Amino acid sequence: MGPAKLPRIIYYPPPLGIMAVLIRDFFMHDLLIAPSLLSADCARLGEEAVRVLEAGGNMLHLDVMDNHYVPNLTFGPLVCEALRNYGIKAPIDVHLMAHPVDRLIVDFAKAGASYITFHPECSEHVDRSLDLIRKHGCKAGLALNPATNLHCLEYVWDKLDLILIMSVNPGFGGQQFIPSTLTKLKKTRALIMESGKDVRLAIDGGIKVDNIADVAEAGADTFIVGSAIFTQPNYAKVITDMRQELARDLHGKA
Ligand code: DX5
Ligand code: ZN
Repeated sequence: MGPAKLPRIIYYPPPLGIMAVLIRDFFMHDLLIAPSLLSADCARLGEEAVRVLEAGGNMLHLDVMDNHYVPNLTFGPLVCEALRNYGIKAPIDVHLMAHPVDRLIVDFAKAGASYITFHPECSEHVDRSLDLIRKHGCKAGLALNPATNLHCLEYVWDKLDLILIMSVNPGFGGQQFIPSTLTKLKKTRALIMESGKDVRLAIDGGIKVDNIADVAEAGADTFIVGSAIFTQPNYAKVITDMRQELARDLHGKA
């Protein structure tokens, strides 16, 4: 899935640098850009999904909001199913901003979700909900709000495929990136390395061409991008510019 990882090792001063990058790369995945359909033209969602994937998006991000956990109301399982019926084959990353989650987990799994990510405070039994996602054949993720502590990861490493760090408060597209997220990303990346587990690290909120390299450097490997793509006429240009920034970060700093 997604483009091949660029070689970082040759740009880093040896020998300690090479070791550092080798260790980091061992735990890093390919870099994926996941367009968030929240900012797409919802009257033409299928077309928008096809267009943004053809423009270079690697997986679709579907923000599920319930007007309860967050003050907004968006997509249900039937939208996910409709995208599959429309012919979308790319992975669909369902981000549940809803409470409770277990019923939605089952419904979205049946509707064709690939990843299902929820906020730990939205489940009374986080461990059980993570199990439920995997039992239904999906990859499981936890989403952490800007003020949510990383402690909730401690006892569930075996059940995690993805950690989503929110760089805005959940509920709306088009918000400003919260800078303290960079520190949190670095800490999360260090925890992933320490765990030795194969876990993706996603960043969600306020990602643009001019900050994507910084979040990559801080450890993110999956970039959820809504308004920065869908407010522009040429999706491919934004995604190409982002890829160039990511390559520049790898070549310049790695
Ligand atoms: C916010 C959502 C995000 C949102 C990102 O609650 O989880 O996925 O779509 O949108 P931008 O990129 O516009 O911040
Ligand atoms: Zn999201």
